[in-house]
Amino acid sequence: MEIKAAVLEEFGQPLRVQTVDLAPPKAGEVLVRLHACGICHTDMYTASGVDPSGYASCVLGHEGAGVVEAVGEGVTSVAVGDHVVTCFSPQCGECVNCRSGRTNICVAIREQQNLGYLPDGTARLSRVGDGDPLRHFMGCSTFAEATVVSEYSLARVSPEAPLATAALFACGLTTGLGAAMYRAPVFEGATVVVFGAGMVGLGAVAGARLQNAGRIICVDLSEDRLALARHHGATDTWVAGENTVERVLEETSGYGADFTFEATGLVGVMAQAVESARMGWGTCCVTGVAGKGETLDIIPRYLITGRTVVGASFGGVKSREQVPQLVDRYLAGDIDADAFVSHRLSLEAINKGFDLMHHQDGIRSVLELA
Ligand SMILES: NC(=O)c1ccc[n+]([C@@H]2O[C@H](COP(=O)([O-])OP(=O)(O)OC[C@H]3O[C@@H](n4cnc5c(N)ncnc54)[C@H](O)[C@@H]3O)[C@@H](O)[C@H]2O)c1
Ligand SMILES: [Zn+2]
Ligand SMILES: [Zn+2]
Repeated sequence: MEIKAAVLEEFGQPLRVQTVDLAPPKAGEVLVRLHACGICHTDMYTASGVDPSGYASCVLGHEGAGVVEAVGEGVTSVAVGDHVVTCFSPQCGECVNCRSGRTNICVAIREQQNLGYLPDGTARLSRVGDGDPLRHFMGCSTFAEATVVSEYSLARVSPEAPLATAALFACGLTTGLGAAMYRAPVFEGATVVVFGAGMVGLGAVAGARLQNAGRIICVDLSEDRLALARHHGATDTWVAGENTVERVLEETSGYGADFTFEATGLVGVMAQAVESARMGWGTCCVTGVAGKGETLDIIPRYLITGRTVVGASFGGVKSREQVPQLVDRYLAGDIDADAFVSHRLSLEAINKGFDLMHHQDGIRSVLELA
């Protein structure tokens, strides 16, 4: 079938919205009619050409939500009409990692996904006319009216959730929530510091609140974003500066915070997050994606004196199992996810969405696709 999609033709150039061909789902695959897709830093990072693992031409987008339109042979986990959220972090349930129960990093379709293909090593996307294949992005390719993905890449969510909001659970929001709820589960009464109040940091603030943290300090450069942090549960908001670590120590009897979360992607801030974690048992959880070649310096003494440093892809969340649970908590009124949708745009306005993100205008721009 023919669909409209935003294609990354050339790194560093605007995406080109055009008609492309989408082949029907093969065994284990699902055709999804997309209704909404959030625009994430990873899309912009790949489009810029800076990401060494990026490839073009491909259809970008990974924060998608929609309705199942057809299923391929053998698909049992979703059916036509189901509401689904796309999962760049798949969950097969059967690979060595999934069976271990110790990680959310599934390895079943990873290799082909990283190359831009579906699990059988081919693409369902191609150019109208010459039929040249177009690669898939993160197993999702959701800057489009429809997509075909592996069934391992879909979480079935409540049909009561508006799809524009459900889309946020496909990446940024869940990454922050999961960091504080699953990867570094905050304990009741804990003192928490969250560095960065974008989509991921605000998710961590909300997650810490749901875990009944005692004090949630959010640090950012932007007063506007700090106001949002208060809305989602921050008890204290500080403008970022050189002396943030000293201030955390001063306010915790010299010990540091039980949990710190980094959500900026800046290695200097990651170091602050490590140094703000409590001696004895503090955990620092890194969620930001650093620039190519950058490294995080840690003085070993911080580790010997009892701090733990962890990182999380997708907040450690097991996508197919736990995304539906988080959406249910939104529906129960525990997470004000609607507040994160700042702009609603058409697919044609995708490059405007990148501009808004570049200028830090709003938390999430969401494409309305149906
Ligand atoms: N691990 C994952 O699976 C995953 C998923 C999604 C996003 N990410 C990454 O998470 C990071 C955050 O994503 P986002 O969408 O929230 O980004 P964002 O750009 O919207 O937010 C980052 C925030 O950090 C703030 N900031 C900048 N310098 C700061 C400083 N010195 N101290 C404190 N705050 C500072 C900015 O003002 C901004 O509000 C990015 O690196 C992104 O690539 C990771
Ligand atoms: Zn993302
Ligand atoms: Zn797996």
